[in-house]
Amino acid sequence: MARLAGKIAIVTGAGIGIGQAIAKRYAAEGAHVWVTDINNETAEQTVADIKASGGAATAMRVDVSQGQDLTALIRNVASAHGMADILVNNAGILIRGEVRSLTDDEWTRLREVNLDGVLRLSRDALPLLRKSKAGSIINISSIMAGRGLRPLAAYTATKGAVTALTKGLAIEYAPFNVRVNTISPGYIETAITDRMLRLPQARKMLTDKTPMGRLGFPEDLTGAAVFFASDDSLYCTGAELMVDGGMAAGL
Ligand SMILES: NC(=O)c1ccc[n+]([C@@H]2O[C@H](COP(=O)([O-])OP(=O)(O)OC[C@H]3O[C@@H](n4cnc5c(N)ncnc54)[C@H](O)[C@@H]3O)[C@@H](O)[C@H]2O)c1
Repeated sequence: MARLAGKIAIVTGAGIGIGQAIAKRYAAEGAHVWVTDINNETAEQTVADIKASGGAATAMRVDVSQGQDLTALIRNVASAHGMADILVNNAGILIRGEVRSLTDDEWTRLREVNLDGVLRLSRDALPLLRKSKAGSIINISSIMAGRGLRPLAAYTATKGAVTALTKGLAIEYAPFNVRVNTISPGYIETAITDRMLRLPQARKMLTDKTPMGRLGFPEDLTGAAVFFASDDSLYCTGAELMVDGGMAAGL
């Protein structure tokens, strides 16, 4: 049976990668999915794929760092459905570089997309989510959240903040019957990791550090994303689920 039948889901950064895999799986599980991305073309293509498979979805260009885009998204979802059940804060960027050479603009961009976007959309979506019988926010963090990883200190700092924010929001939103949980991926084969994983030594080193002996694919995240979105996790909030082939256990 479809596990998300009749639910309304918003997924950010859903044009490619992990967000796209989650959006497609949610649609396959019966949800109407708002496929949002800063890249309108990939969002539209994802919706076309979902519809071709018999699912329901709407595409919208949303830059999560832009307040007016978030306002427009909430307005559109409100006028289409009057409520929402699921929000996946997935959009994220990675800027490589040592902190001592990071520009103010790079830091601001990282923070605005990876952290501010999560906080602002979680805030703006609450009026819609609290109308659900079981609202669910899922934040995509990282197993490297809050850890030292060279040359990604700024990126891991934003993810550490997302993991902490999830716990605070879980407490704040519990009285509204809205759960807030984190999924922390390990190393997944997407555009973000492509450059690094093309280096054979880096690929071998990361594969060797993964107890399950392989890196992940976006589809590996979808089971956890359905769990937190569905009524199977009604008593889970403030939780963090690592989806990493066991890598975090050895960190
Ligand atoms: N791939 C990994 O190994 C890995 C590991 C840990 C965490 N993550 C996290 O998973 C999430 C998804 O990453 P991915 O690997 O699928 O990356 P990806 O680059 O394949 O996809 C990211 C998507 O986000 C969109 N996006 C970028 N900036 C945006 C903005 N300002 N507003 C809206 N959309 C925007 C992009 O257009 C793209 O469609 C990110 O938050 C990332 O930090 C990824």
